[in-house]
Amino acid sequence: MPHSPAAPQRARLLSGSLGTDLAVAAKLLRLGGLVAFPTETVFGLGADACNPSAVAAIFSAKGRPSDNPLIVHVASTADISRLNLTPPLSPIATALASAFWPGPLTLVLPLAQDAGLSPAVSAGLSSVAVRVPQHPIAAELLGLAGIPVAAPSANLSGRPSPTCAEHVMRDLSGAIDAVVDDTSTMMDNCGLESTVVDLTGTPTLLRPGAISLRQLEQAAGVEFRPMATLASADLSKPKAPGMKYRHYAPRAPLYLVVDDVDKVVGQYREKGKLVGILATDDVCARFSECPGLSRVVCGKQNDTKSFARELYAALRAFDGEGSQAVMHSVDIILAVPPNIVDDGIGEAVMNRLRKAAAGRHETVDAES
Ligand code: TXA
Ligand code: MG
Repeated sequence: MPHSPAAPQRARLLSGSLGTDLAVAAKLLRLGGLVAFPTETVFGLGADACNPSAVAAIFSAKGRPSDNPLIVHVASTADISRLNLTPPLSPIATALASAFWPGPLTLVLPLAQDAGLSPAVSAGLSSVAVRVPQHPIAAELLGLAGIPVAAPSANLSGRPSPTCAEHVMRDLSGAIDAVVDDTSTMMDNCGLESTVVDLTGTPTLLRPGAISLRQLEQAAGVEFRPMATLASADLSKPKAPGMKYRHYAPRAPLYLVVDDVDKVVGQYREKGKLVGILATDDVCARFSECPGLSRVVCGKQNDTKSFARELYAALRAFDGEGSQAVMHSVDIILAVPPNIVDDGIGEAVMNRLRKAAAGRHETVDAES
């Protein structure tokens, strides 16, 4: 296969709007290659989930710890039984699948004994995470490939997930075979990863996403266990192993501002710190006359969805990427959460911001 960690090359950029390019991408996947592709959440780094060396290449390209399992992507709910990934779906799984697939929901299900997946996909667990994405390019590619495709987010481990092909190229171009670009569809993407739900026992929310707990409970007709908070969870043995790792973090330390942002900014500047601020357009505009302060606009006022869509690009801007690239490194990033007007994506936004703050300093108040 063209992929070889010993001989880095630049990944091929394929167009998601060209049938011939999608056929090339599907063939690369079938031959054991690594292909990044757009979904309605973030870009995934795909490989044949039944091919142990392709799956191993995902872990090494990302620098991903081997105890963090991967989501298997398929073109339709029917593919789960066609590919024999799990025992027949339970009534709750069936209800959630018909309500939200294709879409930004991942179900953790019992793994069929003879599923044929590389054991590394599930990191040795007896479950498998499955998702049927809605994005037209992902759907077409998975349909053409006809195999179960293991795909974590297509970023280096620890970095913000990619929401465009340039993010993928920046992190992985030397380590993967191709990236399928998404310049033609005007999808209203989520920008944050799928909601993950564990259905191997009491239904449990493992990762918040665009589909809210309330929506899940309504569709399933049962109560869910809410997600364990980072503070209360036993992080040495979390249900979703990805929970325990540092995530979404730019190089400079990020603080979540819950108090008067003007005061907090003032305090840090008095201490001589180079401050960066990540906030919605209206908040950033308030600091336009503030010399030496780096501002990165993330979304519009009272529009949580736009904040979610732009969050990872905004975090990457502090590492010098993209149209808002901050060229002089800052000592500290102050992230101002948006007004939450949407429960599913709002909870997901707060979850990602807390993770980007890495639990070091979750909040800064005006007195600190
Ligand atoms: O939106 C998404 O879900 C994106 C796109 C590409 O589909 N993918 C994604 O994958 O975010 P990743 O690998 O970055 O996150 C997968 C999460 C991790 O927290 C992992 O621990 C959890 O799902 N997970 C995967 N398999 C699991 C399993 N068998 N049991 C529990 N958690 C699992
Ligand atoms: Mg990820």
